[in-house]
Amino acid sequence: MTLRREGPRRYLSASQEDTERFGELVAPLLADGDVLVLTGGLGVGKTHFTKGVARGLGDAHPVTSPTFALMAVHDGGRIPLFHFDLYRLEHAYELEDTGIFDVLGYEGACLLEWGEQFQDELTDEFLGVVIAHTGESTRTISLEAHGGRAEELAEAIDAAVGAAAGA
Ligand SMILES: Nc1ncnc2c1ncn2[C@@H]1O[C@H](COP(=O)(O)OP(=O)(O)OP(=O)(O)O)[C@@H](O)[C@H]1O
Ligand SMILES: [Mg+2]
Repeated sequence: MTLRREGPRRYLSASQEDTERFGELVAPLLADGDVLVLTGGLGVGKTHFTKGVARGLGDAHPVTSPTFALMAVHDGGRIPLFHFDLYRLEHAYELEDTGIFDVLGYEGACLLEWGEQFQDELTDEFLGVVIAHTGESTRTISLEAHGGRAEELAEAIDAAVGAAAGA
């Protein structure tokens, strides 16, 4: 593994596997109600990160992009994982139909791709996982906490990645 902690709440991924491993390290720290908003451009690695989280929770089913379904539930692990991809959603009023308000902030862990465009309509308590493309296979991953629980989660993730990947 080449995943590295570059500084506080900031990591370097050198491969798809590193980003998945990062997700795996996050998984044991997640609790019901946690919301992670995954940001970064197209193809930056949001779905691969989610794949790692599902594996870390113990769900063996494959994670694919739920672009057409908008939501995929992975309920074979320690807690349910709700994976949303809101890329194709054009208007905030369409959010209601995705079922997101039934779960967001209280049931399972919710991971959102392209959720930042509806930030005002969703929740203001979330952990931002910001992935930036720095080369063909390199990414920086930064955590941006919004709210008390997100702060706690960011601290726990930082410690876990530091321990597993070196500071
Ligand atoms: N360090 C890395 N971390 C994650 N993915 C990487 C990395 N290096 C290369 N890749 C490649 O980048 C692509 C990431 O795809 P992925 O579907 O996870 O992105 P995404 O952010 O979910 O995109 P979209 O916005 O289209 O949903 C994959 O083809 C993967 O192999
Ligand atoms: Mg995706």
